[in-house]
Amino acid sequence: MSKQTPAEQSIVVAVTGASGSAYALRLIQRLSQAGVKQHILLSDAARVVFKQEVDLVLPMETDGTAQALAQHLNIAADLLHCYSLNDWFSPTASGSAGIKKMVVVPCSMGTLARIACGASDNLIERAADVMLKERRQLILVPRETPLSSIHLENMLKLSQLGAHIIPAMPGFYHKPQSLDDIINFLVDRILDHLDLSNPEAKKWGS
Ligand SMILES: Cc1cc2nc3c(=O)[nH]c(=O)nc-3n(C[C@H](O)[C@H](O)[C@H](O)COP(=O)(O)O)c2cc1C
Repeated sequence: MSKQTPAEQSIVVAVTGASGSAYALRLIQRLSQAGVKQHILLSDAARVVFKQEVDLVLPMETDGTAQALAQHLNIAADLLHCYSLNDWFSPTASGSAGIKKMVVVPCSMGTLARIACGASDNLIERAADVMLKERRQLILVPRETPLSSIHLENMLKLSQLGAHIIPAMPGFYHKPQSLDDIINFLVDRILDHLDLSNPEAKKWGS
């Protein structure tokens, strides 16, 4: 049986400028706690939203970004690998590196549209294009309201290409008591799809 390489066991986490940066932070924290190596890609707009929504100011340098995220989340930085969006030599830029999974959380309508048309104009779009062309796992967490026909058509197209669309739409049937519960609801669903289910997550019917 073939053994997975470190790249195959790692996950690309891309963060774009949609509302919901808390989801990205919680996912990065949970993956780190599970010992998963992460390739982190941040759009410029994601940095603006981090500052606006969670008062987190991230430096533009990629090394400093990993440190700042680790410090904010109280996790070790060694599993976080950040790349600039024109680092075409990053392992996320080619199918031959063997990375099997990618999550875009939150996913802006702009990035969603550019992935849907195969623009590959920055490393987030290219990494997503790699996942689609290699028939690997691409999870998109779109956030916008209301949704236009353009947004819906792009999501339908990507779903038909095999991407998992997990919209930032928390359910309320578990009676969330806090913002944390609402964030965890969505992040637990993402982890389920990554085959990294949280055993403590409330399950329907349990
Ligand atoms: C605070 C803030 C919240 C935003 N929320 C959303 C959103 O929920 N969905 C969305 O598609 N765009 C949202 N935007 C606009 C995107 O950031 C903008 O379209 C940007 O160009 C997206 O770039 P990116 O896809 O490279 O991250 C928001 C912008 C800001 C500053």
